[in-house]
Formats: sequence, C-alpha cells, structure tokens
Amino acid sequence: TAPLIGIHDLAVATAGHVLELDDLAAATGVDPGKFHIGLGQDQMSVPGPDEDIVTMGATAARRIIDRHGVDGIRTVFFATESGVDQSKSAGVWVHDLLGLPSTSRVIELKQACYSATAALQAAAGLVAREPGSKVLVIASDIARYELDSAAEPTQGAGAVAMLVTADPALLSIEPATGLHTAHVDDFWRPNDSVTAVVDGKLSIDAYLDGFVGAWDDYRAHGGVDAAEIDVFTHHQPFTRMAAKAHRRLAEHLGTELAEDRYLRSTLYNRRIGNSYTASLYFGLAALLDGDDDLTGKRVGMFSYGSGSVSEFFAGVVQPGYREHTRADETAELLAARTRVDVPAYRALHAAAHLGSRQDVAVPAQSPWPYHFAGVRGRARQYTADQ
Ligand code: CAA
Repeated sequence: TAPLIGIHDLAVATAGHVLELDDLAAATGVDPGKFHIGLGQDQMSVPGPDEDIVTMGATAARRIIDRHGVDGIRTVFFATESGVDQSKSAGVWVHDLLGLPSTSRVIELKQACYSATAALQAAAGLVAREPGSKVLVIASDIARYELDSAAEPTQGAGAVAMLVTADPALLSIEPATGLHTAHVDDFWRPNDSVTAVVDGKLSIDAYLDGFVGAWDDYRAHGGVDAAEIDVFTHHQPFTRMAAKAHRRLAEHLGTELAEDRYLRSTLYNRRIGNSYTASLYFGLAALLDGDDDLTGKRVGMFSYGSGSVSEFFAGVVQPGYREHTRADETAELLAARTRVDVPAYRALHAAAHLGSRQDVAVPAQSPWPYHFAGVRGRARQYTADQ
C-alpha cells in the first residue's frame, strides 16, 4: 500500500500588534455585537512597519526548523495574496533567513486565499514521487482594506508553516478532492493598490457557490458522505462565514449538521482576523490544539480563493498527534502582541506602502525574530535577531 502523506508539523505566526474590535466599534459608533456576533470577530492582528509576509512566514517556519532541522527539505512553496515583489518569490528571502539548503527549489503561488491548498496538494505529489523528501509550505498574508469601509473589521494578518512528509505525525491527506473554478469579480487587488477591492455581498455568494460546487465534485471523485466527516474547517475571512458555509452544506444535503462540528476551528481566527491563504490552516491548528481527542477522526477542509477557485478535501488525524501540537506556543504568541488604540492602528494602516523608489531604513521593533529593514537600491532588506 502507498505510504500516508500529509502534514507532519504545523506552526503559526502573526503580526506584533492587536486591535480590539470593541475599540473600533466605539470609535466608529457601531454596535459591538455586529463584530462579535454578526462577523464572529473579536480582535485583529495589525502589522508594524518592520513586519510583512516574509517576516511572519519566516517566524512560523523557524519553529518547524527548530524542531526538525533543514535536512531533506527539497521544496519551499510560499503561498500569498499579498506578495511584496512582482518577480521574486517571498520564499527566497525566507530560504535565506532560515539557512535552508541551496539544493532546493523555492516558488511563490498566487490565487487569492486559495493558493496554500494548491501548495499542499503539490507538496503531497512531490513527496509521493520522492519518498523521504520534505516540502515546507508557508502561507502568509496581510488582509488590508480601506479605512471606514464595510470590510475594515475583517482585516488581519498571519502565517502558517507546514512540513509535508510521508508518515505524517499530525494529519494524513486523503487523495479524494473536489474542485471548482468560476470567473467572478468578487475580490482582487490591482497591482497599484495596497488594499484589496471587494464586493462584499457578491464575495459571500461566490464563496458559498464555490463550496457547493467543490463539495459536489468531491463526492463525484470518491469523497465520503458528510456523515463520515467528523469535524470541518473552512476558509474564514470572518469566522461567521464558516457558519454560513456549514448551514449552506446542510441545506444542500437536506440534512442537519451540528454546529459543534466546525465551531472549535474558529478560535484562532476570531483573534487574528483574516489571514487569507493561512486562514483555513489556522482553523486546522485550532481543531488540533483543542481539548477534544481527534485521533482517527476525519477533518473536512474547504479552501476558497476569490476570483475564484475552491477545493474541498479531507485528512485523518494521526495517532499520537497531541505530542506534536503547539497550543501553548500559539497562546503565548497571541498574548505577546501589543495592544494598539484606534489612532495608532490607523497610523500603521496609513504607513503601509509597497514603494521602492526611495531608500528607506526601518528600525526593528516587532517581538519576533525577523524584520523588514527597509529598501536599498530598490531591493527589500531583511534582518534576523542574533
Ligand atoms: N448584533 C448582531 N449582529 C449584527 C448586528 C448586531 N448589532 N448588526 C449587524 N449584524 C449582523 C448582520 O445582520 C449581518 O448578519 P448576516 O450575515 O446574517 O446578514 C452581519 O452582522 C454583517 O452585517 P452586514 O450585512 O450589514 O454587512 P456589512 O455591510 O457590514 O459587510 C462584509 C460585511 C460584507 C462581510 C464586509 O465586512 C466585507 O466586505 N468583508 C470583506 C469581504 C469578505 O470577507 N468576504 C467573504 C467571502 S470572500 C473570501 O472569503 C475571500 C477573502 O478572504 C476576502
């Protein structure tokens, strides 16, 4: 029989500041219930000037390297919507900061919030072809919308790094998968914009259509019945979207699907906000870090990237997985963020830019080990704490 292939280790990172959505509600005259209940969000991570997708991605990946070393890593996939260069993969900076082997390939993947799932599936294929090799998958994003827009409370930032191997310690990925692609202008980010353009209502409908389309394709390609899926996690642009998706699937199947089958997956995303490519995998981390013993349970995962590409697939939680999860580490990470008030958050938001025409030096200040140090000769510079 073919070896199991899947996620051997998973670690997360986020930005160094946090905004309480209660503070945003008070400043904008919105009932806080709209954020906590209507959107299912409590906080959002806010990046400082020395933080970006590279520094968050490197911080998450460092945790994996500290545990497993770099031997055998032949491929680095860097999935992101918020790329910092039109040509160079953000993964090449991470490769340098982490001292990964020169005998490896590094590539960036893009399709809004979906591309980490393409990376994971491609990683599983590469490991199947070269047993014993390992693939490092990094999903890292900053969700940034216009101030005072409806989307403002659904911003956030975060990264997830995953080591994909044979005989994984956490989750084996099953081969059955369901796919759905449809052209739709629901959310995108033009090359000249640091904030995304979004049609909120259309994006919710497109997400739900993608979910049903991917589900039907999953079933047509050998996927199991919903009754055989123990827990679900979804892409969570705001966590109430998972509730909408769960309800839509129940309607589609004409059955009841209890809320407790996905609810635990929302705990981290409620606190970091949208992290685009990383969001689904923060959901998986929250499930694995929870009190329930999920040994042998099947996790159904729905990935959505606006524009749009959807995929539904499943994995099985491996015996002994709890010796490898990182609940305490993630709790410390979330607690280490510095709380900012609304004026400070707005100043950080306004300072975000992708310009390269002027040299600029950015002082290190985030609590994590890697820093964006500015631009020199049009090239981005990064530093690592010693
Ligand atoms: N107490 C409880 N609930 C309240 C409330 C209160 N005081 N006030 C309002 N609500 C509820 C509303 O009833 C509504 O609930 P329903 O969804 O059940 O109708 C909910 O809060 C949101 O309120 P609105 O419908 O008024 O929505 P809004 O105009 O504030 O915009 C949004 C919400 C469209 C999600 C907006 O935040 C947005 O555009 N976000 C970005 C786009 C996005 O995240 N899209 C998701 C799918 S696309 C995707 O997944 C890719 C991606 O990552 C971007």
